[in-house]
Amino acid sequence: MQNKQFPPNFIWGAATAAYQIEGAANEDGRKDSIWDYFSRTPGNVKNNATGDIAADHYHRLDTDIALMKELGLKAYRFSISWPRVLPDGYGAVNNKGLDFYKRLVDKLRDNNIEPFITLYHWDLPMALQNAGGWLNRRIVDWFTEYAQVMYKALGDRITSWCTHNEPNVSSYLGYKVGIHAPGVKDDATFAQVVHHILLSHGDAVAAGRAMLPNAQFGIAPAISQNYPATEADTPIVKMMWNHGPGLILEPVFFGRYPDVNSSVKPIILSGDMERISQKIDFIGINHYFSMWFKLNKDGYPERVTKDLPVTDRNWIIYPQGMIDMLHTVKNTIGNVPIYITENGASYPDVVTADGCVHDKERAAYYKGYISAAADAINQGIDLRGYFAWSLIDNFEWEMGYDSRFGIVHVDFETQKRTVKDSGKFYASVIRNNGVVE
Ligand code: FCB
Repeated sequence: MQNKQFPPNFIWGAATAAYQIEGAANEDGRKDSIWDYFSRTPGNVKNNATGDIAADHYHRLDTDIALMKELGLKAYRFSISWPRVLPDGYGAVNNKGLDFYKRLVDKLRDNNIEPFITLYHWDLPMALQNAGGWLNRRIVDWFTEYAQVMYKALGDRITSWCTHNEPNVSSYLGYKVGIHAPGVKDDATFAQVVHHILLSHGDAVAAGRAMLPNAQFGIAPAISQNYPATEADTPIVKMMWNHGPGLILEPVFFGRYPDVNSSVKPIILSGDMERISQKIDFIGINHYFSMWFKLNKDGYPERVTKDLPVTDRNWIIYPQGMIDMLHTVKNTIGNVPIYITENGASYPDVVTADGCVHDKERAAYYKGYISAAADAINQGIDLRGYFAWSLIDNFEWEMGYDSRFGIVHVDFETQKRTVKDSGKFYASVIRNNGVVE
């Protein structure tokens, strides 16, 4: 295998999200989000786990930044907890909440780690949910107000702003399938929620341009790679795109929805599509796996198994899939600057007697995908950076603490952090600016 080198300014980072790591759920004026409510409702999360304490990051800022430094990270992608800074969703700002993020950003800057902010990583203030949440069109203004609070507080220290994390997933799992907060299963609600999320994205970008002319704005859909099981199943690929990332990227880039062949349509007011299709500067892509599908007898896509390795979530490991996905994105929306904002693998790690976590499968996963990222750049993809998911083990949504994605292990009893072998491998990639053999 040859060396896989990256361009000199390539950004190496790791990612987290507020509800998954912060804990301190009831501290310093924070109020509930839909995930607090959802996880405290028995039966929604494995072992009825909640993010009340999570990885206690709120109290361990210094430790966690020291870890980032040890790994050599050039960037850190994190999200803001909306209910921590605006406990009621809009109106009164909670300065203690805001101070936490100011401290975080200052410390990152002191350590030469570039902060990449995500405004919405799924923890909607419960107060807004009680007023209809993403289904209420007024949320577009609430979100924009929240974005403006953050632009004003941190705009002098942040260049990269991502409005939404995986809007295709949060809307699908939260409003169609109901396994994520707020646990709704309704096609019409889903379609309308997607529309309001997109509008909130567009308005937040417009507000950001007005306040921070030098900043970069983007959005981060999840994009897996889908293959047809046989040639006859090829139509599935476009179908999956239209229902997934296309539902987000086509309105944002072309100002129109893809054809999803459904009678359930959102209410779209005049001017909405123009507001949604503001120019953006980058897209973040969260990519984890590839899938193969066949059309079942009712004409619906059905997953087929493949003789390929999988993670403990049964996610197929296929680095070539990331390259193929990046070409699809480029061919569909053009050669836009891209960051892989999440990529990683879940395995049931153990700390062994030597005090280490020998997660060789995760290290191999990273080696495969990072090498694929180098190939993609050589093939003309404008890939600017890569973020491992995740910096530390955390609250993994409906899986609770039973799915570990960290490159750093967290003992949730003691909150002790241990850099895993995959973390050491990633640190060597950063040091060498590539995979060296
Ligand atoms: C993504 C989410 C992230 C994390 C990973 C494993 O869908 O954005 O919060 O849960 O999956």
